[in-house]
Amino acid sequence: MADNIYPIYDRMLSREERERQLGQRGMMVWFTGLSGSGKSTVALGVERELAKRGILCRILDGDNIRAGINSNLGFSQEDRRENIRRIAEVGKLFVDTGIVTLACFVSPTEDIRQLARNIIGEKDFKEVYVSTPIEECERRDVKGLYARARRGEVKDFTGISAPFEAPQNPTLSIDTSVLPLEDSVNTVVEMVMREIED
Ligand code: ADX
Repeated sequence: MADNIYPIYDRMLSREERERQLGQRGMMVWFTGLSGSGKSTVALGVERELAKRGILCRILDGDNIRAGINSNLGFSQEDRRENIRRIAEVGKLFVDTGIVTLACFVSPTEDIRQLARNIIGEKDFKEVYVSTPIEECERRDVKGLYARARRGEVKDFTGISAPFEAPQNPTLSIDTSVLPLEDSVNTVVEMVMREIED
């Protein structure tokens, strides 16, 4: 028999033991959608609502990931893929700790989202497509990036000069231009509660 090369891993608490300790189940809620579609705003509301129910969550989004662990990455297809690969690997650690993890990334292509799904595992991966149309995202232009992209000052900008492929079969689809924030938040909270009470 081959030597066990992971002796430490075997002695760590198992996911089941951690989940029992926390009294909840870990899962990944993966928000995908254009910049300015409302991914982070909805996730913040979901985190607050789940916290009220005593559920431990963690939001991962562009601001805390691209400024830190992924500060060496830009927006080429290759860099976006590496961005998402690292986020999925980090996210998996959170999920394995029993935490409801909310990832908010444009994650613009099927290929990139499939990579995240494969890393995290089908059972734990719930895709939420924030489908707010580009006209509304551009009208909001929270960060002024659409205007800059239109002027050609930001290249490879998703929806303008780089592709966004809508997910074909998301767990949930939310258009924040027609659905009030509270309703968007509740839709996700209900999905999470159903999953973790299973
Ligand atoms: S992803 O494509 O790799 O998933 P990510 O979600 O991390 O993207 O980062 C997107 C955020 O970075 C946008 O919300 C926007 O604020 C900013 N950003 C800066 N340049 C670009 C660009 N060229 N394309 C898209 N988003 C950009």
